[in-house]
Amino acid sequence: MQKLSGQQLPWPVDWAALFGAARPLILEIGFGHGQYLVHLAQRHPDSNVIGLEVASRCLQAAEGAVERLRLTNVRMIHATAEMALRHLFEPETISQIHINFPDPWFKQKHGHRRLMQRDTLDTLVSRLVPGGMLYLATDIYEYAAMSSELLAGTPGLNNTLATPWVTMMPERGITTRYEAKALKLGETCHYFAHQRNMRPVSLFPVIEELSMPHIVFQTPLDFNAMMAQYKQLDHIEGETIIRFLNAYQGRSALLLEAYIKEPTIEQRVAFLVASRPEAGEFTLKLSSLGHPRPTAGVHRAAALLGDWLVGLHPETRVLARKLLE
Ligand SMILES: C[S@@+](CC[C@H](N)C(=O)[O-])C[C@H]1O[C@@H](n2cnc3c(N)ncnc32)[C@H](O)[C@@H]1O
Repeated sequence: MQKLSGQQLPWPVDWAALFGAARPLILEIGFGHGQYLVHLAQRHPDSNVIGLEVASRCLQAAEGAVERLRLTNVRMIHATAEMALRHLFEPETISQIHINFPDPWFKQKHGHRRLMQRDTLDTLVSRLVPGGMLYLATDIYEYAAMSSELLAGTPGLNNTLATPWVTMMPERGITTRYEAKALKLGETCHYFAHQRNMRPVSLFPVIEELSMPHIVFQTPLDFNAMMAQYKQLDHIEGETIIRFLNAYQGRSALLLEAYIKEPTIEQRVAFLVASRPEAGEFTLKLSSLGHPRPTAGVHRAAALLGDWLVGLHPETRVLARKLLE
């Protein structure tokens, strides 16, 4: 019951309504099997505790633990940190953020996008209330050194420790599953504790949902003619990648699949071209399959599809175009 999807929650979330009480927010990013999340919920019964995870098996394991313990002040969200921070949380709303052992493959440099990097850290800081805490733990020395440099170059944060990190932090109360494995192998763990100070920081606004894209057009073409000219195409614009995939023809609609990757969210969506024979019109819209969210990237993809459809025949006329231009 506590497990939620970032893709389906409102942007931003009204956390007080979701938990049924307005209480300080505590966030854990990448909670794994959830021991630390449970510990946070038990240690802070007067806070609302939120965990973010991308791995479904972790969400399942943690959900079991939360249900067994009947904890009511914790929710688990299937979402990347990058997506949740920009879409779900408003600026200056979180009192503690915990990141335990992120990016275990850091040393292998296989192109994995790191959690600790400038843009994500700046967003994290913008979500902390002034005085709020950011805690990080890692067993990888290079990750600790890189994070230390990044944190030291963040004017909105003060290190609350006497050294850039410590190798023991007994006040954490428990060891996480990953931490226990690292300690058993004789690895050193590195713990950070930084506090958001009173300096003004960039307060990146929540990226909210847009209205549904919608184009109405008239064309002498039928679905067979449209399908015959359809090509899978890639569009890259800045940090947005739009990939048109398969197209399917039904009796009264075409369904066109698209993969859309934006800096904060990746979606696989379907556009529908539906015919309205009585009006001699066609409508291009987003299918509701898979709970798509109308983002700027989705509007851009709809505009590209619309332009392609209109360009297929010189007599095509656009009757209505509801798009973010
Ligand atoms: C090495 S594990 C550590 C798990 C747990 N914190 C522990 O200490 O036992 C890292 C976890 O972070 C999750 N993760 C990785 N990237 C993430 C992201 N961008 N947003 C949310 N979770 C992420 C992974 O699925 C994985 O469960």
